[in-house]
Amino acid sequence: MSKNLPFDEKKLREIAGKYPTPFHIYDEAGIRKTAKALNACFDWSENYINYFAVKATPNPYIMSILKEEGMGADASSLPELLLSEAAGLSGEQIMFTSNNTPPEEYKKAYELGAVINLDDISQIEVLHQTLGGKFPELISFRYNPGPDRVTDKGNVIGNPQDAKYGVTTEQLPEAYAKARSLGAKRFGLHTMVISNERKEEGHIQTAEMLFEMAVKLKQEKDIRIETVNFGGGLGIPYKPDEQPIDLDKLKEGIKNKYEEIVVKNGLEPIRIVTENGRFVTGPNGYLVTTVRSLKHTYHDFAGVDATMADLMRPGMYSAYHHLTVPGKEGTPTKPQRVTGSLCENNDIFTGPSDRLLPELAVGDLVVIHDTGAHGHAMGFNYNGKLRHSELLLKEDGSIQQIRRSETVADYFKTLDFPGLNSA
Ligand SMILES: Cc1ncc(COP(=O)(O)O)c(C=O)c1O
Repeated sequence: MSKNLPFDEKKLREIAGKYPTPFHIYDEAGIRKTAKALNACFDWSENYINYFAVKATPNPYIMSILKEEGMGADASSLPELLLSEAAGLSGEQIMFTSNNTPPEEYKKAYELGAVINLDDISQIEVLHQTLGGKFPELISFRYNPGPDRVTDKGNVIGNPQDAKYGVTTEQLPEAYAKARSLGAKRFGLHTMVISNERKEEGHIQTAEMLFEMAVKLKQEKDIRIETVNFGGGLGIPYKPDEQPIDLDKLKEGIKNKYEEIVVKNGLEPIRIVTENGRFVTGPNGYLVTTVRSLKHTYHDFAGVDATMADLMRPGMYSAYHHLTVPGKEGTPTKPQRVTGSLCENNDIFTGPSDRLLPELAVGDLVVIHDTGAHGHAMGFNYNGKLRHSELLLKEDGSIQQIRRSETVADYFKTLDFPGLNSA
């Protein structure tokens, strides 16, 4: 089975002729189409917004496109707040969801007017002190349901009870009451309990859990939740035979829960927001790399010019990423392993076993699919590997470089050592 590409071999060779591999390339048309589909899933909910998870693709060019599609930003650190600001977002278009947070990050989030989402009950006082005795009018808490919500063990985020994130079921009512006593008047409720989940049911359960908690907070503490944030975690099909999430089914399921719980309990309106990253950019980004060497030992290896420093997911999670060799799209015939040049055995794009691929040759371009989220962003410099460029395939077919490749000079920039130069 195969996966589609927004370019053919000729176009890709042209691009690679101008911008040397490896590079990540993002498909603007695909990103806009996906953003529109996600917005349509919540078009029944007034003022719905997806706070795009900046950590997925922290590039202001991409964030600006998403802003045009009506999205905000979910920032988790000072640099991500600055990127959101640079992309033209402000105030409640930004949600700040962090944990173990440095005070200067709270200060910047407050200065921007971002929605601050606290990860722990102790952070109420920390925020209050950091802001010199002030407190935001609008405050949100990240809810961790612990044993009240058991999720799939294979889930990247893991079981809520073992996760470091969030405020417990017991602490939550007290947290809102405390925030109110310090001046908060508007309240949000957030969670992030599943990741890369393609089954609609899991997301519908999250909606149900938050709507029910909103009822409980109203009944127990007279706290009126104004916004619920389901978090990110909408999954994508990494394998060609996997089914994408059915957005119509998701829409229907969440709408029903809203009617059954929110409307029936007289809590309308509750605004719905999300913070999906992967769903929006993941399938619309590709890592393009060139075969540099072939090696035949106990396995057949094709060494490419990208490494796991460009895409950690296969090495870190044994995640599957589909590979296409433009110009050799026919039936794959040969078990091979596609590897980078890092001194790590898990630096293998095909995962820890052989994969049937077309017979690879030196000079072949290999496209690694679904790298648009948590791809370039997770890059690192171990082994002195430099991080590579990001390109944008614009809607008119032209190419814009939206981040250049690092140079050796960039790598040495923070070292003040005599005689060290980039030659
Ligand atoms: C708090 C939070 N929100 C949103 C996301 C985005 O997740 P995804 O890109 O899978 O939608 C993450 C991912 O790690 C997260 O930690």
